[in-house]
Order: sequence, then C-alpha cells, then structure tokens
Amino acid sequence: MITYESVTKIFGKGINTVTALDNVSFTIPKGEVVVFLGPSGCGKTTTLRLTNRLETLTRGIITIEDKNIMDMDVVQLRQQLGYVIQAIGLFPNKTIAENIAVVPKLLRWDEERISKRIDELLQMTNLDPELYRDRYPAELSGGQQQRVGVARGLAADPKILLMDEPFGAIDPINREEIQNEFLKLQAKLNKTVAFVSHDIHEAIKMGDRIAIFEKGRLVQYDTPEMILTQPKNKFVSDFVGADRALKVLGLMRVSDIINRKPKNILQGADRSPDALHSLGVKESSYGIVLEQNKPLGFVTQKTLKYEDGPVRDVVESYPIFLSEKTPLRDVLSSMLMYNTPTFCVVDGEKNFAGTVTYNDIQKAVKASYADETENVETEVVS
Ligand SMILES: Nc1ncnc2c1ncn2[C@@H]1O[C@H](COP(=O)(O)OP(=O)(O)O)[C@@H](O)[C@H]1O
Ligand SMILES: [Mg+2]
Repeated sequence: MITYESVTKIFGKGINTVTALDNVSFTIPKGEVVVFLGPSGCGKTTTLRLTNRLETLTRGIITIEDKNIMDMDVVQLRQQLGYVIQAIGLFPNKTIAENIAVVPKLLRWDEERISKRIDELLQMTNLDPELYRDRYPAELSGGQQQRVGVARGLAADPKILLMDEPFGAIDPINREEIQNEFLKLQAKLNKTVAFVSHDIHEAIKMGDRIAIFEKGRLVQYDTPEMILTQPKNKFVSDFVGADRALKVLGLMRVSDIINRKPKNILQGADRSPDALHSLGVKESSYGIVLEQNKPLGFVTQKTLKYEDGPVRDVVESYPIFLSEKTPLRDVLSSMLMYNTPTFCVVDGEKNFAGTVTYNDIQKAVKASYADETENVETEVVS
C-alpha cells in the first residue's frame, strides 16, 4: 500500500517556480494496479519519482506500508520498489542478463542465485533464456527490450512496481500483447503497481483504479467504470473522449445485461402453427428454438405462416453464440457484421443461458449517459 497525503512538489526557486503537484492525496491499495493518467506535464512522472525519492517532496507525506519514506534509508526504499521505464532505460553495453542482474548485484546475491533468477524472469516475460541471456539490447525488438525492462523491475521481487509509460514506445500490436502478458503476470504476482500512462485505453485495460491528473491536481480517483460513466467534470469527460460509448461497452459484458428468461422461447418439436400462435400472443416477431435446452436457432413469424411441420425443420441457425464473458463491444460488432439484432448466450456445455438484444445494449449505453447528465448538473449547481 502506498499513501500520498497532501503531496506538493514545487520545482525551481524565486519567480521561476513550477508547481508540478498541488496537494495531492490518495491511496494505492495493496495488490492493485493504479494508473496515473493525464496529459503531458500534469505531474504523473513527478509522483512516481517522489515515491522512490528521485525527487524530494516540497510538502506532504508519502508512506509505504505505513512507513514514511523520508524515515527510510533511500537504498532500502528503492530495493522495495521495482522501477520500469521505457526500453531506453536498458544499459546498451550490458547483456540482457547483466541488465536484469543490476539490482540483485547491488543486493550482493551470489552468482548462482542471480543466474537462476535471470532465467526465471526471462521465462516469466516470455523470452527464451537460451536465446536472449547473452544478447545486447540493440539485438532485440522494442517489445522484447520492454519485456527485459519488466524483468529487470521484478528482479529482486519487490512488492511494489513503479512503471512510467512502460509500453509507450512500442507499436500498437506489440503493445496489446505485452499489456496482456503483464496482466497475466500480475494476476499471479499481485504486486502493488503505480502505472503512468497518457492513454485512456491503456488505463482502462490495465487499471483497477485510475487517478486522473490535470496541471498537478488530482481531479478524479475512481474505478475505470466510474471514470467512464460518471466523469467528475468536463476535463475528465473530454479526456476520456467522444467514443466513450464504445469504451463503456468494452467494459461491460454479456453477463451485465443478459435476459435469462426471454418470453419467445420455442421447442424444436413445437408444430409451426402452434408456435406462430404463441409468438402472436407474446407479440414477438421471432422465436428462439431450443432442443434439449440447446439453442438450435430462430424462426420468424413470417416463416412459420407457411409451415405445418415442427419448427426444428425451418429453423435458421445463429452464426455465433455468446458467452457470459463476451464484452458488449464485441457483441455489438457481431450484430453489425451479421445483421442480427439478437444473439443467444450459452454456457460451457452449449446449454442455453439467455439472450442479448441490440435494444438491451442501447439501453445500457443510454443508462451510462443518463448518469453523466445528472452528475454534470450537480457539478454546475455546487
Ligand atoms: N526537474 C524539473 N525541473 C523543473 N520542472 C520540472 C522538472 N521535472 C518536471 N518538471 C515540471 O513539472 C511538471 C510535471 O512534470 P511531469 O511530472 O514530468 O509530467 P508528466 O509525467 O505528467 O508528463 C511539468 O510542468 C514539468 O515541466
Ligand atoms: Mg511523464
């Protein structure tokens, strides 16, 4: 856990001062990833560098596990804090192994322990030790160098990682991959992570919480859902961006809006005229056809009008099925692609679990905007 209490940092003296951080207070809970987000110059890097005492506080207190960092020996402090910066941070004249070994060497680990740890870390970050140990950074791609940067930050198994735009220099496709790898790793390691980013997509993806800074002030500290659906003011909503609806849908999953008991369920053995009648009563233009609780597909009233046999003979199949975990953004995109306004959700055994309709998705988006309008109004009044 890291706490920031009324943290202020002023650079320079006399008339040339810059207030990089102004009275910032928040707590990073143990085992969580908190993303520091905001435009260039808002104080993100300064917050990190105050934490490992690469900069000195002007006012306020920073504590780590309830200990004031100013009362700690600076070398010991930094040993507890893994520091990951853009790949440029690797020593070009040291091999990958030597780069990773920097902190363990400072800690005077013996050679064998260091060597074992290097292999372990390379494997952890998806680099084959046999291949990469003895290479130099310039022989690696940007993404590979960044993996080494992460490995180096983790070398002495610190409880806390400070990461300053760690994936910022990597092309979008490799960035996506290394972000996913890091999330997998974090699920195992449960580090407390302060992660600087200026990219809202990255923040939503990586952060358990997001701290949004504007000109040295902390404007909002919340979960990604709250930042997206209830931005505190115009700065946050502008920063979060106009395609917010899609981002909200990226955060929500089928399980959030699934209809588990749709009224328009038919059985494969139902006779078409009966099925037509039942859909008429329920005022539904189509029915979902199940056979032994597995969805076969759907039939429309139009089709049923000219049929006499069981509905299973005239059923149209769905191009895909959803799982409860599918993000709504993917569902929407499939609906557009297949021109299908409803999809069935199935469980692991392909049993019917419910439906998601285009209308339900639209409602979910509208609800998130409704919350925002209320919020902005109170903001104006207060
Ligand atoms: N060593 C320094 N001396 C003077 N001003 C600095 C120094 N480091 C940062 N600043 C200023 O502090 C502000 C915040 O910088 P920084 O924390 O690096 O922003 P960010 O990481 O959010 O882009 C900026 O106005 C920057 O110019
Ligand atoms: Mg910065």
